[in-house]
Amino acid sequence: MLDKNKEPFLLFDEWFNLAQLKELNDPNAMNLATISEDNKPHSRMVLLKGHSDKGFIFYTNTNSNKGLQISFNDNVALCFHWKSLQRQIRIEGTVNKVEDSTADDYFNSRGYISRIGAWSSKQSSLLESRTDLEKSIEEFKKKFPDKNNVPRPAHWTGFLVSPNKIEFWQDMPHRIHDRLVFEKQENHTWISQKLYP
Ligand SMILES: Cc1cc2nc3c(=O)[nH]c(=O)nc-3n(C[C@H](O)[C@H](O)[C@H](O)COP(=O)(O)O)c2cc1C
Repeated sequence: MLDKNKEPFLLFDEWFNLAQLKELNDPNAMNLATISEDNKPHSRMVLLKGHSDKGFIFYTNTNSNKGLQISFNDNVALCFHWKSLQRQIRIEGTVNKVEDSTADDYFNSRGYISRIGAWSSKQSSLLESRTDLEKSIEEFKKKFPDKNNVPRPAHWTGFLVSPNKIEFWQDMPHRIHDRLVFEKQENHTWISQKLYP
C-alpha cells in the first residue's frame, strides 16, 4: 500500500525510475492539460525532460497552442500513466519558463535535425503541404550549416511546472485501488491523505 509518510518527490523518483526500467516506450511521456483564453481545456502529450523538488520540466514552442494557452493561464495539470506498472501520477500546479541557460543546455543536447526542426516548425499552425515543412528544414540547414552551432530559437524553451498537488494511484485487485494525494500548504510543507478509489 502507498505510504502516507513518504516524501512526494522521493515517491515520484521511485515510480519514475521503475517506469524507466519497465515501460516499453517513452516512460517520460506525460499528458499536459492547459486552459485556453475562452476557458476550454486542452490536452496533449509532452516529454518530461527534467525534474526535482522544484517541479517538472518540458520543452515546447511558445507560439504553439499550448504555449499561447500557458501565457494566458499559468494553471496546468500533468498526468503520467505507466501501463506496465498499472500506476498513474497526477500533478497540478503553475507553470513558468525555465532559465535561458537551462533551455540552451537542453537544446544543445538535441540532435542536429531536431534543433533545425525547432526553427522550421511553426508548431500548431496550418501546414498546407509536407513539402513546405521540408523546404523550411532545408532553408534552416543552409542558414545553420554548423552542427555544433545552431542557436536556440527565441520561440522554443522549457517550462517548469511547480506542483501544488501530486496524486499517486496504484491499481489494486478488483478495482479497489489505492490513492494517495499530497497537497502543498501555504508554509510550503506537504500534507498527505488517502482518497476513496
Ligand atoms: C509521446 C509524445 C511526446 C511528445 N512530446 C512533446 C514535447 O515534449 N514537446 C512538444 O512540444 N510536443 C510534444 N509532442 C507533440 C504534442 O503532443 C502536440 O502534438 C504538439 O506539441 C502540439 O500541441 P499544441 O497544438 O496543443 O500546442 C509529443 C507527442 C507525443 C505523442
